[in-house]
Amino acid sequence: RLLIIDFGSQVTQLIARRLRELNVYCEIHPYQNVTDAKLAEIAPKAVILSGGPDSVTREGSPRAPDSLWTMGVPILGICYGQQVMMTQLGGEVHGGKITGGGGTAEFGRAYVTPTKDRIDALAGWFLEEKEQVWMSHGDHVAKLAPGFEVYGTSPNAPYAITADLSRQFYAVQFHPEVHHTPNGATFFENFVRLAGFSGDWTMGAYKDIAIEKIRQQVGDKQVICGLSGGVDSSVAAALLHEAIGDQLTCVFVDHGLLRLNEAEEVVTMFRDHMNLKVIHADETELFLGELEGQSDPETKRKIIGRLFIDVFQKYANEIEGAEFLAQGTLYPDVIESVSFSGGPSVTIKSHHNVGGLPEKMGLKLVEPLRELFKDEVRALGRELGLPASFIGRHPFPGPGLAIRCPGEITREKLDILRQADAVYIDQIRKHGLYDEIWQAFVAILPVRTVGVMGDGRTYDYACALRAVTSVDGMTADYYPYSHEFLGETATRIINEVPGINRVTYDITSKPPGTIEWE
Ligand code: XMP
Repeated sequence: RLLIIDFGSQVTQLIARRLRELNVYCEIHPYQNVTDAKLAEIAPKAVILSGGPDSVTREGSPRAPDSLWTMGVPILGICYGQQVMMTQLGGEVHGGKITGGGGTAEFGRAYVTPTKDRIDALAGWFLEEKEQVWMSHGDHVAKLAPGFEVYGTSPNAPYAITADLSRQFYAVQFHPEVHHTPNGATFFENFVRLAGFSGDWTMGAYKDIAIEKIRQQVGDKQVICGLSGGVDSSVAAALLHEAIGDQLTCVFVDHGLLRLNEAEEVVTMFRDHMNLKVIHADETELFLGELEGQSDPETKRKIIGRLFIDVFQKYANEIEGAEFLAQGTLYPDVIESVSFSGGPSVTIKSHHNVGGLPEKMGLKLVEPLRELFKDEVRALGRELGLPASFIGRHPFPGPGLAIRCPGEITREKLDILRQADAVYIDQIRKHGLYDEIWQAFVAILPVRTVGVMGDGRTYDYACALRAVTSVDGMTADYYPYSHEFLGETATRIINEVPGINRVTYDITSKPPGTIEWE
């Protein structure tokens, strides 16, 4: 296995992801835990030292254990990792927070050029004469440690790529793991090839390790899991079930704001086909009752969030001996909660989750998907035998149809919305567009408009179709349907859904819009 020693970079998980893409098994351990003894126990085949926010020039700043340097394994140091390497091996690092006075703090895109006479020695590390890379550092290496040579430079980083080939130590100033280093994957590929990895590790192997970890953490205790029917919680539940079987109880909170037949489909699949213990908490009356007369988006979200927690807690309390709460938290959820700029960020929408619940109920958390990205969760889901149709589902927000029904929510509007949404999604599937679209849904508008059907006047609701492409939901663009598709879909909805007599298509991107209507 490959060991990543984490010095606290925001993007350490991206290193792990790059390695998994290369079918290499790796483990991330925070630097505090990697003692000489721990290192000997892990016995890695190669080590990567991550970036980090500290400065090696500060006394007491993080270091790698001394025994690392004599283990005889290939080591790659990235950014702070490079500086740790130089400092511990006899080089020098200078602080450069302030540019101008000899310092070379550098943030953003840079171009690394290979050092001509040396490039052959490191064949394959570059694809181009000049590689675009991403820099983000305050300090810089001022003197190389003995044995190291320079293999690439950038205008502001004379030691952009350095290596001691005899010891297989490589140290780079830039971040090969981020998207803005377009050939970063090749960079890692070269490193793991040099380190002798065969690249035969799979998601199946990841599953086995994840199961083992869950068993160790949970022991013989009971676990409860909120099942929403979304991909993340479904994969988490399936994984936990495989790990601990009947020690897992899932609670499916039905707030009456789900899509057509959704509750039955989710409960049937998990209970009858996958043999999980599932409590179907039908609390439609409670939710719709409290939402009555409410039209402010934030108020609606807060009511749903609060009731969700109350309901979950009520059912969870009935499960004897529950000590753990399982959540399908993914890695992007983990980083998104940390602000990159460090500045205060504005609440655009109160996102609905069960945060705060574990403390309130005295439960410990199990988050088996915490290291994974969405596409990896889908791969894991396939590995666990979840049907493809389930794994490829569009995201669905916790507050459900409430935020697709601007203004006051009524049962009548929800019924109309559910039917229109079902017709729309059916159209998308029939035209083979479902997998091209990140998310698609209908919003029912709080206006009624006049129409004519047959010989009669109608006065019914208008609805808006929404479909966006996106990679992570953070930014999005509307999907460019053909006019034929839009026309056919509008006709079907108006003909098949009583209560709607006008259909519009929402062509707002995000930003400035958001994906959902509230
Ligand atoms: P917005 O509307 O903020 O949505 O552009 C971005 C993505 O997040 C989903 N979404 C939510 N998901 N709880 C969730 O679990 C929420 O409260 C929530 N609000 C929005 C939305 O469906 C889209 O995929």
